[in-house]
Amino acid sequence: MVELLPSILSADFANLARDVAAAERGGGTVVHVDVMDGHFVPNITLGPPVVKSLRKVTNLPLDCHLMIENANDYIPAFAEAGADWISVHYEACPHLHRTLELIINHGVKPGVVLNPATRVEVLEEVLPMLHHVLIMSVNPGFGGQQFIPFTLEKIRKLADIREQRGLAFRIEVDGGVAHDTIAQVVQAGAELLVAGNAVFGGGNAEQNARELLAAARAAAGETA
Ligand code: DX5
Ligand code: ZN
Repeated sequence: MVELLPSILSADFANLARDVAAAERGGGTVVHVDVMDGHFVPNITLGPPVVKSLRKVTNLPLDCHLMIENANDYIPAFAEAGADWISVHYEACPHLHRTLELIINHGVKPGVVLNPATRVEVLEEVLPMLHHVLIMSVNPGFGGQQFIPFTLEKIRKLADIREQRGLAFRIEVDGGVAHDTIAQVVQAGAELLVAGNAVFGGGNAEQNARELLAAARAAAGETA
């Protein structure tokens, strides 16, 4: 089943509760939280205190996408703050297996994120441990960027591997997911659809979310 994950990166940070509630009314089912450290990516966003505050104002799962170095040092704090899912970048985790065990041991669902230029095969050994794989369809760091088309092939490849190996991880896509790209990513095999700018970048967030989800469901052949 496809799900829409509103990314608060493009929301109004002074009105996060209001914006998350609007996206939820529009059909968003998981809140995507972008954590940037100014080192791994050239931007800084938020940390555990904001996750803790979000935890108080929504019952939706919080999907924390860590775009940070030294993730092991911060995973306990994100878990304690209320993160339900934590994903770390393959490119930022030299001891990925250890990092995933740390996430799991904190009772949080683990994911790994791949930058556009990283091949999906690098995850071969850890796929059975994962709740989700996040395919970046832009280079991480900023909202509102243009979708990179070659990432569709990576989604297809990952969906094939999942089927061949009989695994259960979910496939998430993040970056440039909007009205003109959402059908393609769904058809390629993604089911967790992150959208920041397309939900919060203008107009009515509730309506934007509803329209995006409808387009995704139509592409997946699901009835609303
Ligand atoms: C980018 C972030 C994304 C971002 C996507 O580094 O990981 O989650 O919010 O934004 P849009 O949907 O605007 O491309
Ligand atoms: Zn993200």
